[in-house]
Amino acid sequence: MKALILAGGFATRLRPLSCSRPKTLFPLVNRPLLQWIFERLADGGVDEVILAVNALTQFYIRQQKPCKCGLKVRFSLDPPKNPLGTAGPIKKAEKLLGHDEPFIVLNGDIFADIDYKALIEAHKKANALATMALCSVEDPSCFGVVELCKDNYITRFIEKPPKGQVPSNFINAGAYVLDPGVFDFIPEGRAVSIEREIFPRLVVAKQLVGHCIDGLWMDIGKPAEYLEANRLLLSSFAHKIVNPKNVLAEIKSPVALEQGVVVGEKSILGPYAIIGKNVKIGCNVTISNSIVFSDAEIGDDVKLNGAVVGEGAYIGRHADIGDGCIIADQAKVKENVHMRDGATVCPAKEISENVL
Ligand code: GTP
Repeated sequence: MKALILAGGFATRLRPLSCSRPKTLFPLVNRPLLQWIFERLADGGVDEVILAVNALTQFYIRQQKPCKCGLKVRFSLDPPKNPLGTAGPIKKAEKLLGHDEPFIVLNGDIFADIDYKALIEAHKKANALATMALCSVEDPSCFGVVELCKDNYITRFIEKPPKGQVPSNFINAGAYVLDPGVFDFIPEGRAVSIEREIFPRLVVAKQLVGHCIDGLWMDIGKPAEYLEANRLLLSSFAHKIVNPKNVLAEIKSPVALEQGVVVGEKSILGPYAIIGKNVKIGCNVTISNSIVFSDAEIGDDVKLNGAVVGEGAYIGRHADIGDGCIIADQAKVKENVHMRDGATVCPAKEISENVL
């Protein structure tokens, strides 16, 4: 079984953290999202993965080398300067995917506890070219929403319907099983949106069915969603997260600390502090509801609450960084700086004044 993972988007909504890292490599509780995805695909009987990338995302993925979980991994590159959207890369990878059997396609920016074996079974039983994993959410208005009739055929697919006009609470979970016949629906050599062009055509042809999933499902497309996804995962897997014993700080669970973290006296970590590899934290620091990527350095008396601190970033003494603030990779926040309300610092930039 083969799977194609869409990993060539620009992740504009996650800037500036995504300036130096594709969404699929964003850490979720200290492991790249791609690794969580690989694990689930391998469990679901997939043996080969095709990563649909652009030159930059390919570069970062090759460099970071997430554990492949026994999968054979190939790359399919969008043409330079011509991103192919969410369906164009499927057509581009037609030869790699082959025509012998159905294959899985999924977005590289969702965490989904999908039982892929069940999804494939559902596809084999249905008489359609495509099966879409569906997830039920409270407010579907920011997603692709479906209307289902009996036998689970999708009768309508509406991308981001206005509030009050949503036909159901079932949304596109960003994972599909497709028959090779779908290749004929996708024009070649240009950007094509699977949501806006291909699904509506499959609906008209009565070739799209839905399969409801009930495990954890999270989109990490926006900063608030990214923080929330980490929070949920940390709560779900808290029992498996091992904290190094030599850390003297006060720990308010749940907290995840990677290897090599050093913490000074009187610091308080948690609740919901996720600290990456080799992070150095000074004395009297408080970190809650925040994510700190590997190799960052946090000075004495710093307060972080609701923030994301990028890889190798530096936060000077007495800095106070609040809700929704993002400090990108290698950025530097100088001593005593206060930041609030989603303020951001670009990669490798230095900031020495308050941003309130
Ligand atoms: P924003 O710019 O923040 O909207 O993000 P995005 O365009 O990167 O992601 P979006 O949610 O629109 O796309 C869903 C998935 O498809 C993500 O995993 C993207 O990486 C991927 N994707 C989006 N556009 C392309 C593309 O042009 N080529 C390829 N290969 N993948 C894409």
